[in-house]
Amino acid sequence: MDAVTVLGLQWASMSPPGSGRSGEELMALFERKAEHEDDAVSGRDAATRALSVIAVENDFVEGVYDKLAKVYDLFFGPTLHPGRLQALKRMDLQPDDDVLEVGVGTGINLSLYPKECNVTGIDFSASMLEKARERAARKQGRKVRLLQMDAADLKFADDTFDIVYAPYLISVVPDPVKVAQEMRRVCRPGGRIVFLNHFLSPNPLLSRAERMISPLTIHIGFKSDLDLPAFLAQAQLQPISIEKVNVPRLWSLVTAVK
Ligand SMILES: C[S@@+](CC[C@H](N)C(=O)[O-])C[C@H]1O[C@@H](n2cnc3c(N)ncnc32)[C@H](O)[C@@H]1O
Repeated sequence: MDAVTVLGLQWASMSPPGSGRSGEELMALFERKAEHEDDAVSGRDAATRALSVIAVENDFVEGVYDKLAKVYDLFFGPTLHPGRLQALKRMDLQPDDDVLEVGVGTGINLSLYPKECNVTGIDFSASMLEKARERAARKQGRKVRLLQMDAADLKFADDTFDIVYAPYLISVVPDPVKVAQEMRRVCRPGGRIVFLNHFLSPNPLLSRAERMISPLTIHIGFKSDLDLPAFLAQAQLQPISIEKVNVPRLWSLVTAVK
């Protein structure tokens, strides 16, 4: 395999981008802030360990989503929708809030945002964006703009948005930490950075299975083994809440404040 590489132990020696704290300190932070005990899985080496057993490149991911565009809503629409609804409820958007959705896909969230909000959606898949544009055209009267862009290289000034939201994106991208750093950069001070995603289970049996199938699930668009405590530690994010969503409750809604 070239674009998807099973790295195994090589990842363990990766140095954490921009991390100045020890793993123990960061995990203590995580444990203190997490709303639910289940999320606070043990993580002594969270600041240094691999986020997933596999690595992907943008070209590969883009190819997967260009192929998925036609069927995405069918397969990932209703099943993942409770999480999307919960995220919108939790965000409690105010009129005129500037929202950035990172990885807007087919625009499945667009009708969920209040009409008065200014919504910017970015995605790098032309086919997914085409679906989003069709959807936006059907919903006249909303303040929506859709742009083709890499989440790891956002073309916005610092401190632009009130809310920066990544629904079902962060386990898809090659470099989740870089994407989180970009999301933080474009979020205004006091604004919120929100992730809705599946993460590696704290349950040892389930996590073993998720690691095993991750090289397969990436072919349908996501890594099933993204390590949440390691991701938060390496992205230097301190969540104010982490809640389980969807049925079964294997997905997490993570909210941080800049
Ligand atoms: C699982 S879909 C999520 C779509 C939508 N947000 C939802 O709630 O269903 C992930 C989307 O992220 C996009 N994506 C993946 N990597 C990206 C990147 N580096 N930059 C921008 N978009 C990316 C894919 O093209 C795809 O449309």
